[in-house]
Amino acid sequence: MSPHRPQADKLSASIMCSRLGELANEVCKLEAAGIDSIHVDVMDGHFVPNLTFGPDIVAVLRCATSLPLHVHLMVTDPGAYVRRFAEAGANSVYFHIEAERYPWRLAAQIGEAGMTPGIALNPSTAVDLIRHIDVPHVLVMAVEPGFAGQRWLPPTVHRVRELSQITRGRVGIGVDGNVSPENAALAKAAGASLFVCGTSSLFSGDDYASEVRRMRTALSFDESPSRHSAS
Ligand code: DX5
Ligand code: ZN
Repeated sequence: MSPHRPQADKLSASIMCSRLGELANEVCKLEAAGIDSIHVDVMDGHFVPNLTFGPDIVAVLRCATSLPLHVHLMVTDPGAYVRRFAEAGANSVYFHIEAERYPWRLAAQIGEAGMTPGIALNPSTAVDLIRHIDVPHVLVMAVEPGFAGQRWLPPTVHRVRELSQITRGRVGIGVDGNVSPENAALAKAAGASLFVCGTSSLFSGDDYASEVRRMRTALSFDESPSRHSAS
């Protein structure tokens, strides 16, 4: 259980899982359904074997919603795109620590561009690395990055708990990949407070509002210590 009072739970819609042919309409529906932010997966075909969106799509999303836009950079040179995404209207940028030799410098560059920096960790990257860098948000990948619809990797809950113990409330912890309501509840009990919702929750049905309610219900359990006594 998180040693500190958890931040309010935030649901972030992974827009790559939406009906891309009607993107602006999808974003309006997600906003009406009660989503807290939009998660934009940017892939360059090098850091991950897939290609998705660029700054121009973020600019379209910016015109369609006032929700915070979180860009998840799965690219080999994240620093090359900071200015472009800032100009497009992104609010946060998560970069992969595996793709960046100077994370302090890049986090500062993102902040100077007016966005909030975050670090994403691949499933096999030691969470202990976060001990040595100060960013407000960390995204723990529950799957190998690059594709939606994958399976939650079992060590994820332990990794979230370990990260929560290391950082002791100084970072907001998110999970990304196969975040079903059941997996979200496990991650929250370990210390997560941001949940990237994709094909295993929000986009598993047509009624976004009921999927949001289902996720909020799964996350609404009692945080008191008795709830998590060893069982
Ligand atoms: C994977 C992306 C995730 C993914 C989530 O590389 O970072 O955001 O789109 O999709 P699901 O929830 O289906 O795994
Ligand atoms: Zn993502």
